Amino acid sequence: MIGRGGVGIVPTAPTRLRSRDVDHPYRPDSDFFYLTGFAEPEAIAVLAPGRAQGEYVLFCRDRDSQREAWDGARIGPDAAVEALGADDAFPIGDVDEILPGIIESAERIHYTMGVHPEFDARLIGWVAALRNRGSPGRHAPYEFVALDHMLHDMRLYKTRAELTSMRRAASVAVAAHRRAMAACRPGLYEYEIEAEFLHEFRRHGMQPSYLPIVGSGPNTCTLHYTANSRQLEDGDLLLVDAGCEHECYASDVTRTYPVNGRFTPAQRAIYEVVLEAHAAALRATRPGNHWNDPHDAAVGAIARGLRRLGLLEGTTASIVRSGSYRRFFMHRTGHWLGMDVHDVGDYKVGDQWRLLESGMVMTVEPGIYIPPGASGVRARWQGIGVRIEDDVVVTRAGNEVLTRDLARDPAQIEALVGASA
Ligand code: GLY
Ligand code: MN
Ligand code: MN
Repeated sequence: MIGRGGVGIVPTAPTRLRSRDVDHPYRPDSDFFYLTGFAEPEAIAVLAPGRAQGEYVLFCRDRDSQREAWDGARIGPDAAVEALGADDAFPIGDVDEILPGIIESAERIHYTMGVHPEFDARLIGWVAALRNRGSPGRHAPYEFVALDHMLHDMRLYKTRAELTSMRRAASVAVAAHRRAMAACRPGLYEYEIEAEFLHEFRRHGMQPSYLPIVGSGPNTCTLHYTANSRQLEDGDLLLVDAGCEHECYASDVTRTYPVNGRFTPAQRAIYEVVLEAHAAALRATRPGNHWNDPHDAAVGAIARGLRRLGLLEGTTASIVRSGSYRRFFMHRTGHWLGMDVHDVGDYKVGDQWRLLESGMVMTVEPGIYIPPGASGVRARWQGIGVRIEDDVVVTRAGNEVLTRDLARDPAQIEALVGASA
């Protein structure tokens, strides 16, 4: 797609400081890892289809016995050619000498601006130097093309190998949710539930794919709650949104359950509305439907359910039309899922919702949130927040729920909670 006149340039992510001289755990840039499978920092992939000596050039850290004794082994350019399938690999320290020479033979640079600002500045510097040098027969590129446009469309359709990684990330997330449910009981702190997830993820060599959300009682209604510091009380609901990452592929899973193993009638009533919305959205997740069809199905079920419970007034149609349901269901029913939790890929083509196609992976995650003190709402409903989230692949026949082995049925959930406590 880049073509012989173009050069694609893809840097990996920089290391990031957490505090003083301590780094965050390193995570490569998703686009870079998608193309290379290479997880070391300080690397650049160059894709130059017109380059006579080979079209895939990798820059990576040189071998350095002293640094490696402290920080661990590096692949080095020589082994990188062999192990990663690059046509040529050079030390990253030589990039200023080598990369401008590759760029000057190209008419177009395919590059994603604005993701790694320090690299943007270096690239602009190389291009400016070519322009200013002005020697005959040498020129700066005529065109800059957004690389993410084509790359992210590729990433939207998962290959069989990618789905294998995602199944693995999903199955460990399922095991972790089960483990947390089994351990759950009144008196624990939210962070103790979080610890069950971290244990299960690390036990399989995985990391969380985002900060786990472990919200009990009133915290179930805070969508991005991550303090995870409250003590679980008898009678609380617990909402846990936690997933893990395997080979840079994410899972993203939510379950909501009663801390003491028994839903109250009010909690169960709300739970069942969310479950109906989830089922309706899943039914609408199939090839040929639009991206928005699962959301519309979930909105319909939530509007119907909240009306039935007396939480919203009017007809189902008027609740949907006016958007009054948004007071209690304020997010969308899902998002693309892949190397990034909120994965890349366009949701619309022009002004039309995208058609669902086999190989696309998305979450299905309707929810209802009724915060404490919600005005005009009876006390019995207040402080109830419920979300049910699963990871779903669109298949030729319909869909495959990667997280299907984790119970959603309220009676099954009740049986799992506290089983090992
Ligand atoms: N955990 C983020 C989300 O559910 O979208
Ligand atoms: Mn999600
Ligand atoms: Mn989630």
